[in-house]
Amino acid sequence: MSSMHPYRSVLYIPGSKERALDKARDLPTDAIIFDLEDAVAPDAKVGARATLVAALREGGYGKRIKIVRINALTTAWGLEDARALREAGADAMLLPKVNAASDVDNLVDVIGSGLPIWTMMETPVSVFNAREIAAHAQVAGLVAGTNDLTKDLGCRVRTDRLPLMAALQMIVMAARAARIVAIDGVYNRFRDGDGLKTECEQGRDLGFDGKTLIHPSQIEIANTAFAPTNSEIDLAERLIAAYEESRASGQGIAVVDGQIVENLHVVAAQRVLARAQAIREMAAE
Ligand code: COA
Ligand code: MG
Repeated sequence: MSSMHPYRSVLYIPGSKERALDKARDLPTDAIIFDLEDAVAPDAKVGARATLVAALREGGYGKRIKIVRINALTTAWGLEDARALREAGADAMLLPKVNAASDVDNLVDVIGSGLPIWTMMETPVSVFNAREIAAHAQVAGLVAGTNDLTKDLGCRVRTDRLPLMAALQMIVMAARAARIVAIDGVYNRFRDGDGLKTECEQGRDLGFDGKTLIHPSQIEIANTAFAPTNSEIDLAERLIAAYEESRASGQGIAVVDGQIVENLHVVAAQRVLARAQAIREMAAE
């Protein structure tokens, strides 16, 4: 799982819904979270586990990153989920209700060191421990669980997400400090495309790599919001060219569009171009 894979859209699919599992093989989503946890009712948990193992064995998901969300190891299903899914062909295992790095260690004890682990960041304690969780050697991605966080904080649901801002920023900072992936929480009103667009853009501006989604109609909006725009790509190319030119003439700083360009801007511009390239490769299936 290269860090240059795009994660603009990360679609949850209930492991119990065969039709959705099948449909996802053709959806333009960058990654999929195959869910055995909150999207699956208790009575359906054991059946969903088998359905999901079969879907992963069958394959057909192309370049989409396949992440399996198991139940917490403290539940009646978590341990068996971990055992059944560790070699089913997923790219990563997503652990919910994580509070500390020791929770990740408990999963490593079950699945070993081969499969990358992602963690839900959805309890207040997990936010305080975000740095040690993200720094765990096997943790490769953080997913904001904004519904659970809202519940545990007892905060209001606001369009501007002000009550969640500290938590969202801690999650991004922890992920960046550890150089791993950070995905924003879901937008519940899945028929409200304008609201989703606004929230995607907010998550993008905060530094998230992409957004978790609950419905196929949300994919294109997230893919657009989290992709570099044509003008950003154009600017990145001009920054790099101007900087190289000024270096060639013995100077360390260039000026583009009235702004100085230093080496750090070139690094950021190269990242924009690499992301655009990764998105092109994703589309060329
Ligand atoms: N992934 C893949 N396909 C999905 C999907 C998803 N998350 N959600 C819906 N679809 C499919 C449906 O199977 C349906 O396919 P079809 O036309 O081939 O039958 C199509 O998209 C249209 O679905 P629609 O009727 O608009 O939605 P719905 O009313 O059946 O379901 C939800 C709405 C919210 C219940 C459903 O989207 C869902 O279960 N989402 C995931 C929720 C989840 O995982 N939550 C946990 C994390 S917060
Ligand atoms: Mg949750």
